[in-house]
Amino acid sequence: MSASKPILIVGGGVIGLSIAWRLVRRGQPVVVLERDRVGQHASRVAAGMLAAAAEVGYEEPELYQLCRASLQAWPGFAAELEAESGLDLDYRSFGTLVVADDRDAAAALRRGYAFQQAQGYPVQWLSGAEALDLEPMLSPRIVAAVSVPEDHAVDNRALLTALEKAIRKHGGQVREGAQVERLDTMPDAAAVVLAAGERLEGSRIVMAAGAWTSEIKDWPGGTAPSIRPVKGQILELQTRPPFQLRHVVRGRKAYMVPRSDGRLIVGATSEEMGFDPHLTVGGIHGIMDGAWEMVPGVLDQYLLSVDVGFRPASRDHQPLIGFTADPRIFLATGHYRHGIVLSAVTALASERMLLDGVRDETVVFFDPSRRQTRS
Ligand code: GLY
Repeated sequence: MSASKPILIVGGGVIGLSIAWRLVRRGQPVVVLERDRVGQHASRVAAGMLAAAAEVGYEEPELYQLCRASLQAWPGFAAELEAESGLDLDYRSFGTLVVADDRDAAAALRRGYAFQQAQGYPVQWLSGAEALDLEPMLSPRIVAAVSVPEDHAVDNRALLTALEKAIRKHGGQVREGAQVERLDTMPDAAAVVLAAGERLEGSRIVMAAGAWTSEIKDWPGGTAPSIRPVKGQILELQTRPPFQLRHVVRGRKAYMVPRSDGRLIVGATSEEMGFDPHLTVGGIHGIMDGAWEMVPGVLDQYLLSVDVGFRPASRDHQPLIGFTADPRIFLATGHYRHGIVLSAVTALASERMLLDGVRDETVVFFDPSRRQTRS
């Protein structure tokens, strides 16, 4: 292996691009190989919530702490990327309001609140009236809410554009329409073979192919990591004054993430439908019904777009970050619902492991050696 060979990054979503940016800015040649167009799939069809508390389950304290570590890294990560790309990421430091509209929902919210407190997260319990004071667009039916002031948000589409721009600025290559069909690892070479037949050698290969990871053939040892697509449908609205949300608002059936320019992202379904690309009336109805129950004024806003994406889910719904048994193959995939928030910590840890040879304690729990392969 020659040190002058590039690191090949398979996947041009937020994880692949973030890692490529961290590597290329240190002078490491990189080639990003994206099967379609960069940033078109799960990373684009996302809301950009930088939320540790709102999306992680009770049985996932390690994932929760990883999200928190990423949240702490995000302000610096965003500021550096904005400076290098010259683009505004619409990084917003308002918090999340997790709301409950009946007694059952309030009881579930109370359990989540206790978990978050036990994890040391600064959260505040609010009555319905207190929540309405903070967020006047809420429905008067809201009976309770938890305020999570440390949750932030970013415009994920701006983030993807900025990453690509910064990579290219540093001389990194980003190749679109470059579908990796299989790995080709021999004792003296680590390579990928594209569907079109081209073979590319690298010093290392970073597998960040998201929901498509398991489709790639010929993994060393014969076993691909098990990553499945979990379909999500999401809406983008253009809001009109006087409608304005001051927080990310989420309930049991929907979440809403406001942008500075008045757009509002409303999501999302979670469907075990494989790579089914269709929008469904029921999916959109379910999201809007949940959104309307929390914020009735949302129904008067303009619909801009509706999209489908595929979250990459590992067997335990937690990411795989680190070297495989073959030290030339590095995994950064399976980020499921948390790709945008975890992009910062994943990229920083990957940079340390790939360029400095340092074992990174923040991601050690997410080492790919845990049993995740397809048998
Ligand atoms: N993180 C938002 C979602 O997966 O829908």
